[in-house]
Amino acid sequence: MQQTLEPVITAAWLAAWDKGDLDALDALMAEGYTRTSKATGATVDLAGLKAEIASVREAFPDLRTTLDDIVVGEGTVAVFWTSTGTHAHEYLGVPATGLTVHTRGSNILVLDPRGRVLQETVTWDGSELLAGLGIRPLRGIAAPPAPEPEDEDAQPSLDTMKAFNRQFITGVTVVTTKEGDRPKGLAANAYCSVSLEPPLVLVCVQKTSSTYPALFSSSHLGINILGADQKPTVGVFASKSPDKFAEVDWHEGPHGSPLIDCSAASIEAEIQERFQAKTHTVFICRVRHAEVDGAAPMVYKAGHFFDGGQLVEL
Ligand SMILES: Cc1cc2nc3c(=O)[nH]c(=O)nc-3n(C[C@H](O)[C@H](O)[C@H](O)COP(=O)(O)O)c2cc1C
Repeated sequence: MQQTLEPVITAAWLAAWDKGDLDALDALMAEGYTRTSKATGATVDLAGLKAEIASVREAFPDLRTTLDDIVVGEGTVAVFWTSTGTHAHEYLGVPATGLTVHTRGSNILVLDPRGRVLQETVTWDGSELLAGLGIRPLRGIAAPPAPEPEDEDAQPSLDTMKAFNRQFITGVTVVTTKEGDRPKGLAANAYCSVSLEPPLVLVCVQKTSSTYPALFSSSHLGINILGADQKPTVGVFASKSPDKFAEVDWHEGPHGSPLIDCSAASIEAEIQERFQAKTHTVFICRVRHAEVDGAAPMVYKAGHFFDGGQLVEL
């Protein structure tokens, strides 16, 4: 029986994962089959495995798997595999990025006396598909969101948090991308320089933003630090106007991101991580191109805008 295992496993595995023929697994698995993920500790039955495969295939329809090695032992089989696919539809709550992911794992199969798989232990977890795309939830793996804390005393009130944020002074940026040929963007002050070597920056964008889906699936984005004389531009990019770029002059960065003319400074950056932070996504980006005008920047505090050229040095 064991001599014939390799082709049987290969055929069923590829039929299920690459072609969506989930019933091809029926002959391979024993009654009472269970599959346990080492990453999460979760155990599912055959129906659970089929549901997982179906959801991965829905999100990554062109999934292609290579079984790199199948090592048959006494009552056990180790399967080492690699998969590649394009993130074409939502997966674990993360909208399609259009990016290609490569992921790999190993499974230990425990066989029953008839050579069918009774138990399977997997080193891999579905969230690794997202990790391979540079998407990591802030808390652990992509499990259902943690429930909101019930104890309101454990955190400051909304008003206190707003008051706290009003004490913080920032500049104002416009974060941009393209949706097809259409430039898109929003005003954002949640910008921060992360490091100089390598040149990393971050921006936080709310998932309800109309710019967000295009931003999420972009490889690059633009960040424009507005100058003190660009107040009308803030109004435009803080609005929901369908064609914000009709109201400003702009040009493309080397990777196609819209850069707003006469900004105090603009960068184009490659998106490297997309951290899920409940209502927002934190984009960590590596700067690929920079233009610095040197004009006085706009300053923002507590809902008001100021001339960054008029600051008084302490
Ligand atoms: C000064 C200022 C700072 C803002 N900062 C952010 C920010 O950091 N992240 C964000 O998602 N929205 C921020 N907003 C809100 C968005 O600009 C606003 O919701 C906008 O309408 C989004 O446009 P969109 O839905 O067309 O993308 C800010 C607005 C202003 C006026």
